[in-house]
Amino acid sequence: MRKNLVAGNWKMNMTYQDGLALVSEITNMVADEATGSTAEVVICPPFPFLHSIGKLLPQGGNIHLGAQNCHQKESGAYTGEVSAKMLQSVGVEYVILGHSERRQYFGETDELLSQKLKAALGAGLKPIFCVGESLETREADETFAYLEKQLKDGLFHLSNEEFDQVTVAYEPIWAIGTGKTATSAQAQEVHAFIREQIARAYDAEAAQNTTILYGGSANAQNARELFSQPDVDGGLIGGASLKSRDFTEIIKSF
Ligand code: G3H
Repeated sequence: MRKNLVAGNWKMNMTYQDGLALVSEITNMVADEATGSTAEVVICPPFPFLHSIGKLLPQGGNIHLGAQNCHQKESGAYTGEVSAKMLQSVGVEYVILGHSERRQYFGETDELLSQKLKAALGAGLKPIFCVGESLETREADETFAYLEKQLKDGLFHLSNEEFDQVTVAYEPIWAIGTGKTATSAQAQEVHAFIREQIARAYDAEAAQNTTILYGGSANAQNARELFSQPDVDGGLIGGASLKSRDFTEIIKSF
């Protein structure tokens, strides 16, 4: 079901001690200041912190635990990897898949991501599936064709029931960590396009029910404007999720 959602992706930042302190601050601030927010919150720390951070999140509250990646196989001789089932067993509910940094630096293809999606769903995790174009693609006026292909190849192979569990995140690569946010009009235009593609691949109900997040230099100053757009249901926040004050302000934008 469509909801407002704010997810913080810590990427490869923070020590364990700093991470615990940050989460304590966030849970306190959310309890004090953001109780009226309609947003579900997801915190995605690095793997080693997941279990302990999960323990700090108030039971039955609106802050949930997410991971930044998972392996495509259930188990086996894959040294250094982490399976979806392992994540589920330490209390993880969401998993980010298809982030442009994974695609770019770790060579993750649509085919591999299809397998990861299946593995995540099989373990009962809710994927946050990222798509987004590079600056080159945008300047060549090929954004929509590019996104259409990314969605088709990476995501639309899922059944209706599987797709129900997915949150989509639109993250233009040129806006990630650059301080250059998409305008609210640019975000709305792409989000509406993504919703239209979902309606085509599934049906109008699925399109209406899908939560679509914006990611890319979203912060406490621009979140309200971005989230006021009819097809922007929340944000996938990188840099600003590492500061309790900024992240809480973003949550309060709903
Ligand atoms: O996953 C988060 C996004 O990559 C956005 O990162 O807010 O630091 O631009 P950013």
